[in-house]
Amino acid sequence: MLQALAITPTIGAEISGVDLTQALSQEAVAWISKQLLHYKVIFFRDQPIDTPQHLVFAKQFGELEVHPIQRKEGFPEVLVLHNDAERPPAGTAFWHSDVTWRPEPSLGSILIAKKVPEVGGDTLFANMEAAYADLDDITRVQVEGRRAIHAFEPLRQALIKRGASVEELAQYATDYPTVSHPIVRTHPVSGRKSIYVNGLFTLGIEGMSDTEAKPLLKKLFATADKPEHQCRFRWREHSIAFWDNRAAQHYATADYFPNERIMERVTVKGDRPF
Ligand code: OGA
Ligand code: MN
Repeated sequence: MLQALAITPTIGAEISGVDLTQALSQEAVAWISKQLLHYKVIFFRDQPIDTPQHLVFAKQFGELEVHPIQRKEGFPEVLVLHNDAERPPAGTAFWHSDVTWRPEPSLGSILIAKKVPEVGGDTLFANMEAAYADLDDITRVQVEGRRAIHAFEPLRQALIKRGASVEELAQYATDYPTVSHPIVRTHPVSGRKSIYVNGLFTLGIEGMSDTEAKPLLKKLFATADKPEHQCRFRWREHSIAFWDNRAAQHYATADYFPNERIMERVTVKGDRPF
């Protein structure tokens, strides 16, 4: 029997009674979507799915994205996060929502652990609707109706490190110009408001000087820091996390260097934030 067991009162539930190596019924897919909406991140244990099964599972929730870098060979829709002694973990050790540099950022991400360190490399998730609800009145008024600027910049830095050519970098700049999204977004399904800026991709606020915007953004980023807004997931091999990028942020703890950790993500397309 399909069951969801909350892991904190605010965010996250472990789902049991489902075998993701098998085809799911329409009812099961609808039920999983409902849990995702409610808990913002859902976890599955002991699901030894291969890459084609990962893709089949994800496609039931929408069209899939192709990430411009970090693609798995032969599977453009799979993003690989591989860290070890040569590739120290770092890039995702910031609170963020995925691909907010896109005009239509992801609905959700489905991440599976392929190899995990004995200890460390937990992922934290924060409920950004709770963070919004918790905002003080002055800040709420300050951000009302405002839009923030999101950029591909951290990925550009990664490309530079990899030795990308000037031409390549120029092409990325053309393909992924900076975008703006409302600071407070409304969830397209639940209608609930959440804070939609993040310390990884958000660089500024439209119509505001940096001097004014930086401290405000700092305050907004820090709303994810409160333990009461969070849950923390300890991975095992074949664990899966499926999160709603429209309502939650996540943070990959970079504490396991020089050990190896391999994760694969399939990302479901979303719509334009409003
Ligand atoms: C991601 C990400 C977190 C992790 O896949 O988008 O941020 O724990 N990963 O690897
Ligand atoms: Mn991420």
